[in-house]
Amino acid sequence: MKKFIPVSKPSISKKDIKSVISVLKKNWISSEGPEVKKLEFRFSKLVGHKYGIAVSNGTAALEIAIKSLNLSKNDEVIVPNFTIFSNTLAVIKQNLKIKFVDCNLFDWNMDLNKLEKLINKNTKAIIATHIYNFPIQMNKLKKMCKNKKIFIIEDAAEVIGQKIGNVYCGGFGDISTYSFYANKQITSGEGGMITTNNLKFYQNAVNLRNLCFGKKDRFNHSEIGWNYRITNLQASLALSQLKRINSIVKKKEEIGKLYFEKLKNNKNIFIPPPKNNYSKNIYWVVAILILNKKMGKDAKKTMNYLKKKGIGSRPFFWPMNKQNILKKLKYKIKGNFKNSEYISKYGFYLPSSIDLTKKEVNLICKIVNNYFN
Ligand SMILES: Cc1ncc(COP(=O)(O)O)c(C=O)c1O
Repeated sequence: MKKFIPVSKPSISKKDIKSVISVLKKNWISSEGPEVKKLEFRFSKLVGHKYGIAVSNGTAALEIAIKSLNLSKNDEVIVPNFTIFSNTLAVIKQNLKIKFVDCNLFDWNMDLNKLEKLINKNTKAIIATHIYNFPIQMNKLKKMCKNKKIFIIEDAAEVIGQKIGNVYCGGFGDISTYSFYANKQITSGEGGMITTNNLKFYQNAVNLRNLCFGKKDRFNHSEIGWNYRITNLQASLALSQLKRINSIVKKKEEIGKLYFEKLKNNKNIFIPPPKNNYSKNIYWVVAILILNKKMGKDAKKTMNYLKKKGIGSRPFFWPMNKQNILKKLKYKIKGNFKNSEYISKYGFYLPSSIDLTKKEVNLICKIVNNYFN
C-alpha cells in the first residue's frame, strides 16, 4: 500500500527526547520546577514582552487572557467570524458581549475596515487572531485602537516565529496568546503561552492559571480560577524546540514556496504567495482556496478525493455565525459574513510537516493540479 501523507506530523529531534528524559530523571514531572520558568523567560524574550505565563493549551491561554483584563458584564469584545472556536469560548464563558467581524478574501484575517465600523463606546477588547498564513496588519489595528482604551488580545497561536518588520507576532498585543499543540511551529504535545508587558495582567494570569490560591491562607480562595498549569516535561520539549525555531520556520517557508511555485498558475485555485507588502508568509499551513465554483468541487469533495489518493488535508474553520451551539444558546448574530461563509466551504489545507520531501510536494501538487484542471 502507498504511504499516506498526513496533513501534519510533529518533528521530534534526538535533542528534544534527551531534554525531556533529563527532566524526568531529575524528577521535575509536575508544573513546579525550573523548565516552566525557563520557557516563560525565553519565549517572552523572543516576542519582546516582559512577562510570560505558560499554560496547558492555547484555549486556556485565551480564557485566562480575557479574564486577566478584568472587563465588566456589558463590555463588548469583537472577535473574528472566521477563526477557531476557542476565541468565542473565551468571551462567552466570561459572560461578555460578543460581536463578530467578517474576514477579507485575500488573507482570510478579519477585515479591518469592517472592524472599524463595529467599534463603539462599549468595545473594550478585540481578539486579533492571525489566520493560517499572513498576519493581521497589527500596526494599522493598533492605530485604530489608540486613545480608545480598547485592549488587543493577539492570538498568535498559528504564527509563532512569524514577524512583521522586526517584531515577532505576539509582540503587538496588550496581552498575547500562543498554542504549542502538536501541529504548531513548536510543540509541547499540548501547551500554550500568554505574554504581556502589563504587570497587572501578568499577576492576574499567574493567579488564574493556578486556582487563585489565597494569598494569606492558601486554601481560602477569593476568585474563580482554573488549573491550567503546564508540566516541566512539556516545557522541556517546547524549550528544546524553541532553540531551533529559526530553522523550523525556514523549513516551513521552503515547503510553502515549493507548493506556491507548482500551484500558482492554476487559475481555479488560490494559494497565498510567499510574501505581501508588510510580511513574509511562513506557511503554518499550506492553505488553498477554490476559486472556480462552477467546477462543482468544494473543500469536502476535494478532501475526500485527496484521501483516496493517500493525501491528508483539513477543512478551513467553520464560521462563528453558523455555529450550532451559538444558535442553541440564542446568540443574536448580526451582520454580513459572506466571505467567511465562502472560504469555509471552499478552503482546505494540504500537508506541510517540516520533514515533507520535495518529491512528496511535487506528487501532491500534480494530483491537486489534475483535479482542478
Ligand atoms: C488561532 C488559534 N487559537 C487558539 C487555538 C487553540 O489552541 P489549543 O489547541 O492549544 O487549545 C488554536 C488551535 O489550534 C488556533 O489555531
